[in-house]
Amino acid sequence: MTQFDSIRLTSLSSKGGCGCKIGPSELSEVIRMLPPASPNPDLLVGLDTSDDAGVYKLTDDLAIVQTLDFFTPIVDDPYSFGQVAAANAISDIYAMGGKPLTALNIVAFPIATLEKKILAEILRGAADKLQEAGATLVGGHSIDDKEPKFGLAVTGTVHPDKVRTNAGAKPGDTLMLTKPIGVGILTSSLKKGLLSEDEITNVTNVMTTLNKTAAETMEPFNVHACTDVTGFGLLGHASEMAKGSKTGIRILKNEVPILDRVRELAEQGIIPGGTKNNFAHLEGAVTFPETMDQIDQWILCDAVTSGGLLISVAGEEAQELLNALQSAGVLARIIGEVFAEQPGHVVVE
Ligand code: CO
Ligand code: CO
Ligand code: CO
Repeated sequence: MTQFDSIRLTSLSSKGGCGCKIGPSELSEVIRMLPPASPNPDLLVGLDTSDDAGVYKLTDDLAIVQTLDFFTPIVDDPYSFGQVAAANAISDIYAMGGKPLTALNIVAFPIATLEKKILAEILRGAADKLQEAGATLVGGHSIDDKEPKFGLAVTGTVHPDKVRTNAGAKPGDTLMLTKPIGVGILTSSLKKGLLSEDEITNVTNVMTTLNKTAAETMEPFNVHACTDVTGFGLLGHASEMAKGSKTGIRILKNEVPILDRVRELAEQGIIPGGTKNNFAHLEGAVTFPETMDQIDQWILCDAVTSGGLLISVAGEEAQELLNALQSAGVLARIIGEVFAEQPGHVVVE
């Protein structure tokens, strides 16, 4: 699959960090140490809500959406890694209802010890995804680093009245998810050499699929809230939506699409640290059915890279949106609903 067979990019991560997100509780601890930022009425979405991206109003009908994301190699093929990193970084723009416009590369690379061609392939993968998204690369920054890391800062545009945050879900809404979960467990298995070439291709395809079609398809619908499922896992992001929207959220466990072999690999003990952290962080915020075992609970918390959109749409429009997404080729599924009781809480059934 790669012309750099001698190099396993995923093996270059140092033992210390996992290359995953710093947890939300650690992060809020740090932010509490800082003086509060002075309020700015043009900042429509900032640090204080757990949203995907910042939104800043330029004029009455134009706002910019800004986000950035970068991480250590998650797949060995450098071209695919570039694609995954770009699809993942752009996703936050789609999750906010925006259209990606420009991007900047963020590069850390051991330029003296790794073939320059590898970096070129990473950049080519990202450039191809940007082109598919209709965004323009305007520059970037690189540093010499023992451990390769790559990502992008992406800017998009949105109408200030059409920003989709995770705070607008309403009782009676239907919840939809546009990609299967289990990516964290599969990519950890990949690092351990436990996946076949086909399985690597499958999970890579899930991650490199842009949320563009899903976002464009949902645009005319009454979508009240949206976020993309990434590092905090399906239940982490559902919990943020429940808290932000002050509603309860019900997740139907049998309806959640899960990638093949995830359960089997999890049973073998392949649960990423980030996934366990997500689970621990959700204590008290999520109720699981008594019959559900620990493995299935972890799977619903699995840390995802470049996951799908979690969409809260008016109940009466749900079937029509589902049909539209599926006929556009998006693997969308109805996975739950929003209710008024137990605000801020997620119930798995
Ligand atoms: Co996001
Ligand atoms: Co992000
Ligand atoms: Co959002």
